[in-house]
Parts: sequence; structure tokens; C-alpha cells
Amino acid sequence: MIKFDFDTVIDRSNTASEKWDKYQGRDIIPLWVADMDFRSPPPVIAALQERVSHGVFGYTHPPPELAEAVLGSLWREYGWKVEPEWLVWLPGLVCGLNVLCRAVGAVGDEVLTFIPVYPPFMSSPVLSQRGLVKVPLQLCQGRWVADMEALERAITPRTRLLLLCSPHNPVGRVWSREELGQFAAVADRHDLVIGSDDIHAGLVLDGDKPHVPIASLSEGTASRCITLMAPSKTYNIPGLGCSFAVISDSGLRKEFKKAMGRIVPHVNLLGYTAALAAYRHGEEWRRALLDYLRDNRDLVEREVSGMPGLSMTHVEATYLAWVDARPTGIANPVRFFEEAGVGLSDGADFGAPGFVRLNFGCSRLLLEAALARMKAALVKGER
Ligand SMILES: Cc1ncc(COP(=O)(O)O)c(C=O)c1O
Repeated sequence: MIKFDFDTVIDRSNTASEKWDKYQGRDIIPLWVADMDFRSPPPVIAALQERVSHGVFGYTHPPPELAEAVLGSLWREYGWKVEPEWLVWLPGLVCGLNVLCRAVGAVGDEVLTFIPVYPPFMSSPVLSQRGLVKVPLQLCQGRWVADMEALERAITPRTRLLLLCSPHNPVGRVWSREELGQFAAVADRHDLVIGSDDIHAGLVLDGDKPHVPIASLSEGTASRCITLMAPSKTYNIPGLGCSFAVISDSGLRKEFKKAMGRIVPHVNLLGYTAALAAYRHGEEWRRALLDYLRDNRDLVEREVSGMPGLSMTHVEATYLAWVDARPTGIANPVRFFEEAGVGLSDGADFGAPGFVRLNFGCSRLLLEAALARMKAALVKGER
């Protein structure tokens, strides 16, 4: 018996879905913004229904049992021992990235980030009046890696913050313990704060590559880390806006809270409800999801390798494939694939024109159709 259904294509029209409304009325399969087309875990839906039926929606603080559930999950998943007072609740992680940039250093200081990367990594330093310093990831034997020498060369006396995306969106890397140790050593040598966005931590597809929160490496490293996490990607509840930062150093935590000021609103009470149910009762669903996504990932890798002019690296984590379309010579690959009936994210927004990002967090049927459309358009273009 199939316990969870990821195959049924759920109609998301008339739900104000960003992903689907972009192409409303057009025959374009949307594989762009990072949410999945699946229903959330049944216990999450049930908890929300129960909370809604109570009918009173007043100001709500984080339920104490939520901190307990989060700490339990961090300990079980990563062997990371976190204290309840280290948690700072946030209504979103883009918000968290912006608060982080304002909390560390002063106007005119510099923030380092690897590119390509999720666009707010590049906008939040600038919006926070910090200098943005981009260090390109390198493709080394078919795998995206960080160039540690380039990272160190990019550091100036004004550098205060190293922003990590871990696992990395869009290249799908799970940073190994050794790589994280190297980032931590660089941060130590130059007294940098590490801001690590671990929003995709629950979506590791390769069993032999465990996610390691960089703050869990040692107490010393933890003392310079602000880790951003959320149940939103893993349990497909990004529209409910419940996220948190883990900050063990009391001074950093104070600065972070000060930067939040009275500007950052509380988390929506349904966000708390969903997060609690997800961390308490979502594990079986998550395991089934990972099996489904792994098969989708394998399908994408197989199909893309057979498409003229496209290539991609192995996706170790996330439901996002990072595809190099440069060899096709197509000037605007996003427009080309839209005309073929598939909506992808533009690599230019991630700092890498000529690439596209494909979201395979959808039913197999839809994915197969999208891949067939892409292939047919490329083959036709060759003739
Ligand atoms: C690395 C990363 N951080 C943050 C976010 C968005 O977080 P939120 O919706 O909580 O602002 C995303 C969404 O794709 C992401 O990939």
C-alpha cells in the first residue's frame, strides 16, 4: 500500500500560487520557484485543521513544545546540542539573511558569498549597505567546489561576514565536514562571523553525504555562527512563514535581535502549528518524500545528459537541478524553454547567465512531460 501520494497532480489554480500563476492561461509547466507541488504531511494538515477549527487567532508566542521539538530534531539529525535560548524565531529566511547582514559589522563593511547563489545572498548585503564580495565556485571533475585560496584572497580588512548556503542552492552540494572545517578555519584566521543558511538541510538525497551544520563542528566555531533554518522547504510549508536562527553566542544574538528591532513581525500562529506537527510527526513522510525526489533527481540527470547542449552536476541535496545551457548557444534559455512549454529559473539571477535552474519537486508525470518538451525543442533546434 502506498502510504503517501506524490504522484497525483494537484490543481493549484485559484490558490494564488506564485509558481503556477506566473504562467496562468498558458501551456507552460512551472518548474521555477522553490516550492513543491505536493500536499504537506498529513499530520501537518490535521494540526492546521484542528487549530483553525478553534477559531480564535490572537497574538501567539512560540509554543514551548516547539523549541523542544526543534532541539530534539537537531540532536537526532545532526548530533547538534542546542539550548532553547539560542533560538530566535523569524517569519522567513530572506528576512533572516537581511537581519543577519545588518547585525554584523557596520555600514561599508564587506560580506563574502560564493556564486552562483540564491539571489537574496547578493541583494541582502547591498540592501544593508555592506559591500558584496562574490567568490565563484569552481567546477572540478564534475563537482562544484569552493576555491579556498580565492576565498582567502577576497578577504580585506573590511570583511566581517561569510555567508554560506548549506546545502547549496542552486548547485545542490552538501558541504562535507572537511570543507566546512576549511570555511571555519578561514573565519577563525580572519575573525569573520559565519552566516549559514541551512534551509535545505532536511532535503539531502545522497545517503552517504550527511548534512553537518557548520556551528556543530566545535564550540569555537559555534561562537562565530548564525545558522538559519526552517521546516518550510522540507515539509512544503513555505507559505506559512515559520523559520528560526540558532545563535549560541549571547553577544551575536543580542546584535541580531537589535537588528530585528520592532520591524520584523511575529511568526504567524499557523506557522507555529505547522512547524510543531512537522518536527514531531513528519519524519515518515519526509523519508518517503526523499525516496520520491531521489527518483525524480535520477530521471532529470538521465534525461538532461541526453539533451543536446545541456549538462548538469549531480544533485546531492535539494529538489533543484542546476543546468548549464551555455553550449546550446541559445541567447535566452529561459525564453527558449518557456516557448517550449517549460518555466525554469534564470541562472542570471543567481549570478550565472547561461544556466537554468529546474525544480523537480513535482509529480513524476509532470516532470516527464516537461523533460520531453525540453528535449523535443532542443532536438528541433539542432535540425
Ligand atoms: C537558500 C534559501 N534561503 C532562503 C529561502 C527562502 O526562505 P523564506 O521563504 O523563508 O524567506 C530559499 C528559498 O528558495 C532558499 O533556497
